[in-house]
Amino acid sequence: MSNLKPLFFRNASQLLTLEGPPVPRRGAALGELGIIRDGAVLTEGPKILRVGKTRSLEAQARRLRAHAVDCRGRVVMPGFVDSHTHLIFAGNRVEDFERRIQGKTYEQIAAAGGGINYTAKLLRRVTERELALQAATWLGQFVAHGTTTVEVKSGYGLDVANEIKILKTIRALQRRSPVELVPTLLAAHTLPAKYAERRREYLKLITEKLIPAVARTKLAEFVDCFCDRGAFTREECEAVLAAGRRFGLVPRIHAEQLTHTGSCRLAIAMQAASADHLDHITAAEIAALAKSDVVAALVPGSNFHLDVAAYPPARRLIDAGAAVALATDFNPGSSPTLNMQFILALACIKLRMTPAEAIAAATINAAYSLRRADRLGSLEPGKQADLAVMDVNDYREIPYYFGWNHCVMTVKRGRIIYSRN
Ligand code: NIG
Ligand code: FE
Repeated sequence: MSNLKPLFFRNASQLLTLEGPPVPRRGAALGELGIIRDGAVLTEGPKILRVGKTRSLEAQARRLRAHAVDCRGRVVMPGFVDSHTHLIFAGNRVEDFERRIQGKTYEQIAAAGGGINYTAKLLRRVTERELALQAATWLGQFVAHGTTTVEVKSGYGLDVANEIKILKTIRALQRRSPVELVPTLLAAHTLPAKYAERRREYLKLITEKLIPAVARTKLAEFVDCFCDRGAFTREECEAVLAAGRRFGLVPRIHAEQLTHTGSCRLAIAMQAASADHLDHITAAEIAALAKSDVVAALVPGSNFHLDVAAYPPARRLIDAGAAVALATDFNPGSSPTLNMQFILALACIKLRMTPAEAIAAATINAAYSLRRADRLGSLEPGKQADLAVMDVNDYREIPYYFGWNHCVMTVKRGRIIYSRN
């Protein structure tokens, strides 16, 4: 039994339940939000006890002496599940930002001493405590924007000690933040500068030292790699992911982002949880992905910030039946936003997803890609009480009024963790 007081969210103009089996929503089902008008949610401890029309839950809420929250005609939805972030970094990359504005590309800037290696240089100088302080502030912002679960990748350590420092920071944050954090080892993010002539040595370090150490201490659930020109080849990524899988880490892949590498096929062959980015995916790969359980995690914040012309073919992915998710890709280099509401706007405008499809992609499908769809991503009895109250009457207004924050209340595990007004 939990000593948490039950909460009764009443008078939601639209309660977006996203009810349905804990599997990814594909095709037409992606646009079905399971809306209850004049909806209500009753919680019990960390979980949802009931959802329904406000008037049909009133009596039970009274009997349970639930604390009533009048939603006054606002929208109530599952908390966002952000399935792709690089939350732990030091400093920022405003210098790169300015150089790109002046005409240099992401790859040119990385080759000239900016990019991931620059962030890694800064990260090695700061302590776990300093990293945690910065990330804790940002986690507060995630919550204020309605996000309740965040996948977090390492990847700016690029050596055994610093990759582990990042993963330990995530574990320390988990103890003090209400947000659920899902750790991923991304040591194969870029070749560290000092290994420039020794690629194989760095890969050996990952597969023979880092992965076993991380698995032994349970510091990560997933293993990721950046498969691209200027990062790692398909063969190198295969070796890293296979080593991770031998030690119980589930693969995810940064795939087909800057160039086409065949990494989407690798994701399917490795039964990865997700293939992320996919800007350069081919028609045959879309068809193959649609037949698989690999989630296509689209991160249009990076396309926007890098101002690349090619956005991932979301429409074709959805229409083919692929399981599409959306994430921020929060990181200092390519996507410095943690606001999932802005990602919804980009998904609608740039990816031609409907507002309903974007919301399902940012909740239930993202939860599935993190192996948590049985517990997160929809508002149904027995599931975790993770929700956001949005100050709009109609869910379509969330991406429509873009660039500002509509979230007025966030609830995690049946507890109000953020509230304004
Ligand atoms: O997802 N693609 C690789 N990783 C990040 C960028 C990281 C960085 O530039 O610092 C991404 O876009
Ligand atoms: Fe990324």
